[in-house]
This record gives sequence, structure tokens and C-alpha cells, in this order.
Amino acid sequence: MDIDPEISERLKKLEAKYETMGQDMVSYLDGLLYSDSTNYWNYTHVDTLLSLQKPNTDFPDELVFIIYHQITELYFKLILHEQNQIAHNGRDVLKSGEDKGWRKSLDKGYFTERLNRINRYFDTLTHSFDIMVDGMEKDQFLRFRMALLPASGFQSVQYRKIEICATDFIRMVDKSKREKFENEENPSIAAMYEKIYWKLGAMELASGKKTLTLRQFEKKYSDDLVKLGEEYTEKNMWKKYKGLSESDQSDEKLLEQLKLFDVNVNVNWPLIHYKSAVRYLQMESKDIKATGGTNWQKYLPPKFQKRIFFPELWSEKEIDEWGKAWVDKITNS
Ligand code: HEM
Repeated sequence: MDIDPEISERLKKLEAKYETMGQDMVSYLDGLLYSDSTNYWNYTHVDTLLSLQKPNTDFPDELVFIIYHQITELYFKLILHEQNQIAHNGRDVLKSGEDKGWRKSLDKGYFTERLNRINRYFDTLTHSFDIMVDGMEKDQFLRFRMALLPASGFQSVQYRKIEICATDFIRMVDKSKREKFENEENPSIAAMYEKIYWKLGAMELASGKKTLTLRQFEKKYSDDLVKLGEEYTEKNMWKKYKGLSESDQSDEKLLEQLKLFDVNVNVNWPLIHYKSAVRYLQMESKDIKATGGTNWQKYLPPKFQKRIFFPELWSEKEIDEWGKAWVDKITNS
């Protein structure tokens, strides 16, 4: 039988591919003969996906709460996926390990594109947060949340990873503790981690001790986060930016995307999230205790924390007024 030249060409390529891996192509072709074809439900694992919503109570709106958290975590995963590619110049992540002549170093076009994707994901999250703010009955929320204690979105490790992959670790140290490290030559990630901003925000109002929410989180994740911080010391997004040529660094589109990312993570998302806390936990007489028992009104608004990934890109005035206009608008609305 004559073999179609196109097929013959593919076979030759396949043979060469398997040969470089020391594998026998014919066995792999047998594998193809026996394997089932893919269908939608196998590919997306939709049955597994839909089996992962297990509310703790019978209140119908708890399903909205749990699914929206899961949706957010999936977007966080996409964001980390892009950050990972930026860190590795878009090449180390290839499963096949093949070097297809991909970027050896980061170029501004690729960097800008990936930032654009990340910003789109954040934008989607910020705009969909009304599902939380307006999409649940307050009475139901206030009751089912008691069945979730002391769990809190505060324990989302992907959120912390996004921050760590974004910038130098020092930027995450609480601002009142930063100076000490700035004066040291090579402060260790582990030492800075001890003073990370979120720990100071997770103290019990009454006793000043670490909340159970924080203690659980640290036990599970601290080692991994310190390791990630060490790994990203030289390849976080800020370092990647500083590794570009001077002319690339001043590229307007890139700068615009970097600044947008800073605002998305440190102002826009925190504020819309804060709005949900105001809606559910703020009462005229007294505020309802947050899940972690924290002082969320002091902790959550960006204008107090002033978390900024890339301060070099902002003017003094912009830093001074970080998140201020937005937060005033939300608290007064
Ligand atoms: C009605 C909806 C929500 C309310 C009322 C709410 C409330 C709160 C409160 C009060 C805190 C402060 C820590 C604590 O005391 O627990 C917090 C932290 C946090 N929540 Fe939520 N939350 C909501 C939805 C979400 C969703 C959908 C996510 C998505 C994963 C999320 C992620 C986070 C994160 C990452 C933090 C830590 C923020 C930081 O350190 O600045 N929250 N939330």
C-alpha cells in the first residue's frame, strides 16, 4: 500500500522524536491504537469538578459562597501560571523539556502580553465580586459563616504566592518593620517572613495573640512560602523587569501593564473584597466579628496597608494617596 507522503513525513518526524528519547516509535503507535478517544467530560473532568462543592450547612446561599471561592482559586492558578512563565522566560515550563529555540531571555513584548493576561484575570475577578457583595442573603450568610469558623479566605495560599512571585520579599514586610531589613545587606527570607504584613493583620483583637486562622495557615504553609520566596528572589516580576535593557524598561505599554498589575492586586481587588466585608460584617451598633477575629476594618483597606509592589514606578503623591480615593468612595456609599 502506498503511504500518503504527508503521513510518511509525519512518521519520519515521529521516529526521530522517539529516537532522541531512546524510545521505540512502533510501541507508541500501538499505544495510539489501543487508547480511547478523548471526550469533553474526560478532558475537563467535569464530574470530578462538580463533585467538589460540599457546603457545611443547608443554607442555599452557601453554595454561591463556596463556588465563588473556587472560581477565584482557579483564576489565581491561571495568574500563577503566567507568573511562572515570566519567571522562566516562557521556556522551562515546557513539559517535553524540548528546547524549541524559545526565548533565552525575557523580551518586553512577551512580558507585556503575559501581564496583560494577568490583568485581564484580575479585572474579571474584581468585576465579578458583586456575586459576593450582592449575590447572597445577608441573614443566610451571617448564619452559615458560623459553621465555617475559623476558615477564612485569609488562608488562600495562592493569593500569597501571587504576591511572593510579584516582587522583592521586602515589599511584603510590614511597613513599620521594613527599615531594619533595608539597612541589612542580605536579609534572609525567613527573617523577613516573620515580619510579613499579613501576620500583623491576623492578631486577635482582644488578646493581641495570633488568631487560630493564622496558626493553622502557618503550620500548613510557612515552609513552602519561605522556599518560594527564596526561589523567586532573583526571578520575581520586579527582578525580571529590572533585568531588561534600559530602553525596554521605559517602554510605555510595559510600564502601563506593570502599574495596572500593582493597582489590581493591591487596590482594586482588595477594595471590592473589603466592600463585601462592609456589606456583611458592618453594623450600625457594632461590627460583627470577622472570621479570624481580626480588626478587619484596619487591616483590609489598602490605604492603611499601603502594599505596593513597584514603588519605583509611582510618584510620591501617588504613594501617599494609595487607595485613598477608592476607599473613601466605598465606605461612604
Ligand atoms: C462575603 C464574602 C467575604 C467576606 C465577608 C470576607 C471577609 C474577610 C475578612 C473579614 C477578612 C480578614 C481576615 C479575617 O478576619 O478572616 C478576609 C480576608 C481575606 N479574604 Fe475574604 N471575605 C469574603 C470573600 C472572599 C473571597 C470570595 C475570597 C477569594 C479567595 C476571599 C479571600 C480573602 C483573602 C485573600 C484574604 C486576606 C486578605 C489580606 O491579607 O489582605 N474572601 N476576608
